[in-house]
Amino acid sequence: MTSPARRSRATEAFYGRRRGKTLKLPQAAALTELLPVLKLDLENPAPEQIGSLWPKPVSAVRLEIGFGGGEHLLHRAGTMPDTGFIGVEPFVNSMAKLLGNLESEGLDNIRLYDDDATRVLDWLPDACIDHIDLLYPDPWPKKKHWKRRFVSRVNLDRFARVLKPGGRFCFASDIDTYVNWTLTHIADHPDFEWSARKAADWREPWQGWPGTRYEAKAIREGRTPCYLEFLRAG
Ligand SMILES: C[S@@+](CC[C@H](N)C(=O)[O-])C[C@H]1O[C@@H](n2cnc3c(N)ncnc32)[C@H](O)[C@@H]1O
Repeated sequence: MTSPARRSRATEAFYGRRRGKTLKLPQAAALTELLPVLKLDLENPAPEQIGSLWPKPVSAVRLEIGFGGGEHLLHRAGTMPDTGFIGVEPFVNSMAKLLGNLESEGLDNIRLYDDDATRVLDWLPDACIDHIDLLYPDPWPKKKHWKRRFVSRVNLDRFARVLKPGGRFCFASDIDTYVNWTLTHIADHPDFEWSARKAADWREPWQGWPGTRYEAKAIREGRTPCYLEFLRAG
């Protein structure tokens, strides 16, 4: 689907690396055999009932953008078997790692996409998602690169369209300028409200939080994580 928002894609394209080390054989096999089974088919319209993407009924739908090693996605999918998850990650080695773990854990509530998340956002029907996670997105710390950050007005418009009223957008980062950037964009957006009432709400992670690989690295290097939760106005 081509939405009017895609016209401004120059500012939101995927800028990261696609490939790292050569894949081990089982990982390469998972990419060629399992990914085609689990990958969303964006060539065809999304189903009107988004729940039909999973083999059994789901009571809620969550989207994780840029899942990296997939530790958070796997943990949440394992502890919330009645929720349908969509995980998006364009970095091939990360996708291969997730697929390998998915097979061994036997989860059937995850669908995947291996390219820019804006494509999935533009494909999804209106108001079908309960929760979006954007955890430690690429920080683009230099000011001249800030416009590459995933949080932008056009992507918040995309979130607002696909989230159900009252749905959540959860953002974590250890980069102060990105946290401030996100708070400013949210303050300027009519459809989102920051849910924090006290400092602990942004200093402490969400319930059941397993951490992520980037978070562990940030903490090791002495940076402080910040957890922001925004609600889609009803
Ligand atoms: C800094 S890493 C964080 C990974 C993971 N969330 C974590 O906390 O460990 C950011 C991830 O976002 C992915 N990414 C970057 N741009 C993206 C886009 N447009 N759509 C989906 N994923 C994207 C990158 O490939 C990378 O794996």
